[in-house]
Amino acid sequence: MELSQSNQILYMSLTAILIYLLSRLFSLFWLSPTSTRRRLHLNGFDGPRPSFPWGNLMEMYRKVDRSNSFGISHNIHSTVFPYFATWRKIFGKVFIYWLGTEPFLYIAEPEFLKKVTSGSMGKKWGKPNVFKHDRKPMFGKGLVMVEGDDWTHHRHIIARAFSVNNLNSMIGKMVESTINMLDTWSNRLAIGIHEIDVENDITRNAAEIIAKTSFGISQENGKKVFEKLQAMQIMLFRSNRLVGVPFSKLLFPKQSYKAWKLGKEIDQLLLTIISSRRENPASNDQQDLLGYMFAENEEKATSKRKLTSRELVDECKTFFFGGHETTALALSWTLLLLALYPEWQKALREEIEEVSKGEPLSADMLVRLTKMGWVWNEVLRLYSPAPNVQRQAREDVVIGDVVIPKGTNMWIDVVGMHHDPTLWGDDVNEFKPERFKDNINGGCKHRMGFLPFGFGGRICVGRNLTIMEYKIVLSLILRKFSLSVSPTYIHSPRIMLSLRPSQGVPLILHHL
Ligand code: HEM
Repeated sequence: MELSQSNQILYMSLTAILIYLLSRLFSLFWLSPTSTRRRLHLNGFDGPRPSFPWGNLMEMYRKVDRSNSFGISHNIHSTVFPYFATWRKIFGKVFIYWLGTEPFLYIAEPEFLKKVTSGSMGKKWGKPNVFKHDRKPMFGKGLVMVEGDDWTHHRHIIARAFSVNNLNSMIGKMVESTINMLDTWSNRLAIGIHEIDVENDITRNAAEIIAKTSFGISQENGKKVFEKLQAMQIMLFRSNRLVGVPFSKLLFPKQSYKAWKLGKEIDQLLLTIISSRRENPASNDQQDLLGYMFAENEEKATSKRKLTSRELVDECKTFFFGGHETTALALSWTLLLLALYPEWQKALREEIEEVSKGEPLSADMLVRLTKMGWVWNEVLRLYSPAPNVQRQAREDVVIGDVVIPKGTNMWIDVVGMHHDPTLWGDDVNEFKPERFKDNINGGCKHRMGFLPFGFGGRICVGRNLTIMEYKIVLSLILRKFSLSVSPTYIHSPRIMLSLRPSQGVPLILHHL
């Protein structure tokens, strides 16, 4: 009798817990999104109708253009974001769409972006929780993801580690890796192979450079971290992502487990490197970002706010994942464009010769490569490696009569703005580096229409490092080889987190 009574109590408790959990889930994934949708609608934001639990994801997957185009056009917006291109025709340059149960405010209107983010408004936006979760193995709680006081503190230390003097000390490492890559190209040419998929090699070279400049790879543990980070990059790249769909990770348990395990191993190895540098300060004399962050930490000897070992680990991973692919893509798209426009290839080669006179490259010379600077900007405009920027409202954002409710995400379509003829003129889809000659904004009609590195306080902290690497790698290539497009090249830019040439960039190389 006593047993059945206690069974009954247990049964009732379990039922109560189950009902509570179900009602929480119902509220989180159904009631709350429905009420947000209603509020957004009342505030004048329209958009495609979502369905539960996918939001608009299915329509987005269906619309992805998997065909390979045969011509080479720089008018890529409707190829890489066909769903946005379609919705824009119906709803304009600001509308709401849904990733799973997460609302996203699509923005391709710089003036609207300025209104909702400038001045004190900027503080109301954080990084979307949904991406923090999805990209945790890559960035952890590194600078890209932290918010509030933590962000101010990290940014201060990291920005100082990226100072011009510190970056100048890295030129040798960049040259060394690139020369190794160019030697392998020369070897291939020597045995009659002239077609090289430059994207592949450029990406490997950029990964090596960022690992060397972030935490060093001359020691065994550094090498291991580098290999595992590359494995992680490939795995995350291949994995299916149903961002915003509740419990979607459970659909791919094997992948999620592997990424988690690899992440743990990388963290452990980086912690070992950091501890050995802490214990043996002499070994910390290396001129890399980790070493410079240590130095910044030491300057704060009396303050409590130093970066912890755990935070340093996440920053090293952030530099690797945030820094190498973006730089490699800028270089790969540049090589393609220079192969397509030989007059610019010639102009840059002449500039390199004039500035360096055949001497080894120095920081001072890099600054004087002005035409290369225009090409850099034009490539980032046409083929922006970071095709979008996101935020999430941490509180209600009020602009006049309009309220953007707390929790709403913002998706800024950088490719859309960079290819908008109303901002750039009728030649928007032409490769014209000279538009940046006398105008750092390339003649864009709105200051916030050109955003290759984001905007406001969160603008890319690695932009000086990346342009330095870009100029070094490009100068070394152009000094040695001429480039033309291989007949096997297929122009198929795709969004795979970043904006990639999905079929690689095979070029024909000849020694000069
Ligand atoms: C062509 C190369 C690059 C492009 C196009 C690029 C693009 C961007 C963009 C668009 C943002 C802003 C993201 C946002 O506001 O949400 C950003 C932030 C960031 N980038 Fe880059 N990046 C490049 C290279 C690098 C490199 C080489 C590093 C590091 C070694 C780096 C590290 C970071 C970090 C740490 C942030 C976060 C800054 C913060 O939130 O305070 N990036 N980058």
